Amino acid sequence: MLAQFKSCLCKVIGMKVWSIVSQKGGSGKTTLALQLAIAAAKARKVLVIDLDPQQSAERWHSIRQRITGAKDDPSIAAGPFQKLPEMLKTARRLGAELVLIDTPPKLDKAIIPALKAATLVLVPLKNSVLDLQALEDSADLVNLAKARSKAVVVLNAVPTGAGRDTAVKESVRAASRLKLEVAAERLSELAAFSQGLKTGRGVTETEKNGTAAKEVIALFEALWSRDNEETAGE
Ligand SMILES: Nc1ncnc2c1ncn2[C@@H]1O[C@H](COP(=O)(O)OP(=O)(O)O)[C@@H](O)[C@H]1O
Ligand SMILES: [Mg+2]
Repeated sequence: MLAQFKSCLCKVIGMKVWSIVSQKGGSGKTTLALQLAIAAAKARKVLVIDLDPQQSAERWHSIRQRITGAKDDPSIAAGPFQKLPEMLKTARRLGAELVLIDTPPKLDKAIIPALKAATLVLVPLKNSVLDLQALEDSADLVNLAKARSKAVVVLNAVPTGAGRDTAVKESVRAASRLKLEVAAERLSELAAFSQGLKTGRGVTETEKNGTAAKEVIALFEALWSRDNEETAGE
């Protein structure tokens, strides 16, 4: 009985909450949330919480259910940010191991609660000048929520051609200037990331051995290890 209680307690304490935040629309928040969630759900209980009033993730989930028949891999919940504590409580009760929170693209009341609830904050960053400029706004929010130590910038849609090295250097420089950590694992600009989602599938399902799937898995594993120490120490 005690052993059972302890293992249950471990699970409760160990729930990881990754909030995906960026003040730039189109930076890849929803794509990152869904691709990571699908990859993670192969072996773990995963919930996506959609706090974006546009509810792209939730709408996508109904397509997934309709086309693939998949129900709870990952599960999805949507609602106003006021319901976040309740949704997280339910996630814990149901034994979720990872919760991914997709957030609105602009300054919104949902962002600070999502940042505060996170064990890890992911900031997807594309390389356009507008994205690089908006990184400062995201950094301000992260700092406001005292979440800098758990924030990781994820370079997204990195060009696959000749401009790749320059794009990576520019983005890393912009993040370093704002004292934000950058993940060594990045997602390239690949049609596969958006194509499969149209039919309700992630890259780890549509092309298991392709570059996009390998990138998502490598990123997921790196983030999971990065978050392990923090959640273990809670
Ligand atoms: N790594 C990538 N490669 C190619 N296209 C991408 C990538 N990441 C995102 N996109 C595309 O960029 C657009 C915006 O992505 P989305 O996830 O909706 O951003 P956000 O949720 O931040 O507004 C979508 O059309 C998506 O398919
Ligand atoms: Mg979105």
